[in-house]
Amino acid sequence: MKYIVFEGLDGSGKTTISKMFVEYLYDKNYSVFYTKEPYTSEIEALIRQNQTNKTLLFLFLADRSVHIEKLKKQNVEFIVSDRSFYSTICYQGYGGGIDIDFVIKLNEFVVGNFLPDAVFYLDCSPKIALSRSKKLDSIENKNLDFFEKVRQGYLDLAKKYNFFTIDAHDKLQNVFLNVIKCYETIFV
Ligand code: TMP
Repeated sequence: MKYIVFEGLDGSGKTTISKMFVEYLYDKNYSVFYTKEPYTSEIEALIRQNQTNKTLLFLFLADRSVHIEKLKKQNVEFIVSDRSFYSTICYQGYGGGIDIDFVIKLNEFVVGNFLPDAVFYLDCSPKIALSRSKKLDSIENKNLDFFEKVRQGYLDLAKKYNFFTIDAHDKLQNVFLNVIKCYETIFV
């Protein structure tokens, strides 16, 4: 089983691209479990209620703990997830200012050795990403400075953990083709 994650800012296009990627895998007759974080609707409802950053950290961790148990039980060729623990490192750590190493430690405790085989990071400037993002709720309605920090987090992690960094300013079809090119370098 291969576990593939899509990461990026709100409005980077990762949900659309990850769905296109899942269709691509289905066309190749692979079995796929498509998922997202936040995963549980109950915890997501709490997340949407304008929580402090500290509370958000623990809500996302609790949600992830439930999610990972579900993922471990899957009997498919591919798990494709829209977001993962890297979102917590970037949003609550880099963006929210909680100590990065502490956030990483907590996430290690939650995910153990259940780590992605590949991460596609869709890189996009916050201005463009936010102008595309339709839903501006309690999480998304932060200032540009917050999203600049989140993006910096992703760029740091991309280097450290060997993400595939995809330029998400491009046309959707080109972004998708770049994802497939990267995918083919490791899985085909
Ligand atoms: P979504 O827009 O991709 O559904 O994600 C929901 C929001 O939650 C988005 O603004 C990113 C944020 N988020 C975090 O702040 N920390 C996390 O760990 C995750 C998974 C999402």
